[in-house]
Amino acid sequence: MALRKDERFDPALPLPVKGQDACLPWLWVGTWSMGGEGFGPHDLSLSMRTLEHAFERGIRHFDTAGFYAQGRSEELLSKAFSSVRNEVFLSSKGGLFRKGRRVWHDARPEALFRALEKSLERLGTDYLDLFQLHWPDPSVPLGESIDALKGLKNKGLIRYWGVGNLSSGQVLNYIREGELIPHQVHFNPVHKEGLKILQAGRQGKRCINCVISPFEQGLLVSPSLLEKGLGKKDVRNRNPYFKDARLKKRLSAFFNACLQKEISPVSAVIKWLLNHKEVDVIIPGPRTPTQLIEILDGIRDEREVLSEVGDFL
Ligand SMILES: NC(=O)c1ccc[n+]([C@@H]2O[C@H](COP(=O)([O-])OP(=O)(O)OC[C@H]3O[C@@H](n4cnc5c(N)ncnc54)[C@H](OP(=O)(O)O)[C@@H]3O)[C@@H](O)[C@H]2O)c1
Repeated sequence: MALRKDERFDPALPLPVKGQDACLPWLWVGTWSMGGEGFGPHDLSLSMRTLEHAFERGIRHFDTAGFYAQGRSEELLSKAFSSVRNEVFLSSKGGLFRKGRRVWHDARPEALFRALEKSLERLGTDYLDLFQLHWPDPSVPLGESIDALKGLKNKGLIRYWGVGNLSSGQVLNYIREGELIPHQVHFNPVHKEGLKILQAGRQGKRCINCVISPFEQGLLVSPSLLEKGLGKKDVRNRNPYFKDARLKKRLSAFFNACLQKEISPVSAVIKWLLNHKEVDVIIPGPRTPTQLIEILDGIRDEREVLSEVGDFL
């Protein structure tokens, strides 16, 4: 069943797929956990089916990064969509890599160029719809990294350039008014500090505000993650919210309220996000078809959002 086109956003805002509109330009599927590394037991065929199902349901925007599972998330996207390349909007990132257990930055112009080359190879394509600076590199002036991205666009290798994880000051200082640059911002009911950054992006139409980790890596929507511990190699061990005992109590109250009102936590959180006029795009990371269906059902649920979501969490 095709989804109706959502008119919530200014049609100038969403980034179009080459030569066509997407049905749900504000809902992108993130593929970090789909590569099969760092998120516990994993089934790649389920990830593949999730991508295929997303396409069937009208989703056309997919987000990845060379950093995710050492490139395996990109390879998965290539497998899923190489036959319909021009019908999907592929967004990837450079400037971050893992060596051993540590995460490193390298957003020098030549490193971004090399990262893009590798992403193109893994994605099996000769252009990217969107290529972003994953994180600002503390040892490279942000303006230098941004100029490098503009250069990649001028070369015709990418259709749009974007950024991720900038502070509000960096948004105001480095993104010009009216530029509408895609910016990936961490924001959700437990990570509300992202709002200031989204507001900076809105000031003078600087950014297309793309919300990442909307479910705080699953903590906000999976009661089972509260109960069962994480495996040793799970990247979520680095997330302080997973260790916050007071938050866990508040989350139990939130899950109970959702149960009583017969609304899914997924639906409550997505609606809470959509109630913020600063949010343009939401990028959740479902890794099974069931999780994706839960999101699509959640946004269709016309019932009033739990007004308490923000207070609970
Ligand atoms: N630019 C950046 O720096 C940056 C940083 C983070 C993320 N991102 C982007 O944002 C995307 C999403 O972020 P995220 O993966 O951190 O997490 P998320 O969407 O906040 O959480 C995803 C996790 O939530 C759990 N979950 C349970 N029910 C779900 C449902 N119905 N739908 C979706 N997830 C459900 C799953 O964990 P279990 O299967 O374990 O239950 C899943 O792995 C990433 O894939 C990536 O594209 C970008």
